[in-house]
Amino acid sequence: MGGSLERIAAEVRACRSCELHYGRSNAVPGEGAADARVMFIGEGPGFHEDQQGRPFVGAAGRFLDELLAMIDLQREDVFIANVIKCRPPGNRDPRQKEIEACREYLERQIAIIQPSIIVTLGRYSMARYFPNAKISQIHGQARKIEGILCYPMYHPAAALHQPSLRRVVEDDMAKIPDLIARIDDFADAAPPEQATQLSLL
Ligand code: URA
Repeated sequence: MGGSLERIAAEVRACRSCELHYGRSNAVPGEGAADARVMFIGEGPGFHEDQQGRPFVGAAGRFLDELLAMIDLQREDVFIANVIKCRPPGNRDPRQKEIEACREYLERQIAIIQPSIIVTLGRYSMARYFPNAKISQIHGQARKIEGILCYPMYHPAAALHQPSLRRVVEDDMAKIPDLIARIDDFADAAPPEQATQLSLL
């Protein structure tokens, strides 16, 4: 496996690994710089993303663009992907077997890009790195996991639905440049499997 980001995108567009392919207009592989230092991982495509085949192009995407501008970044500077690459019917939450079916694509994207920091947007991408965690408790707190700084944030759509979260999301975004500057100060934390076991103790 492996290959280039273009190759992965082509595989995603042809993917039939789960039932979501039946309802899609377009798969949404993700897009951005192959050498991005910052990678954002959202949940899954919504209506507009499915129409255009591009991530975060609806209302949440416009807010994400504003947040990026706050820290002097543009979409072209980062890579934006999702946990699942096809829109669930009616924008329902992704199911575990859909996340599993898509897992390999995301892993290969991360392996190629090798970002310094992965910003998880919302609960589903947070759960990849922080299983069993509550986003209200850990948002805005970075941990290095297997050499990559993982930084959980609320999903931008959450701030659109709940205006009190807007400031929280902006404040968490504003911390990213400093995290990048201090990246070598972070020691590696327990990998997710170990973290799950510890949280069960
Ligand atoms: N929400 C997401 O999680 N991803 C998108 O691409 C768009 C909205």
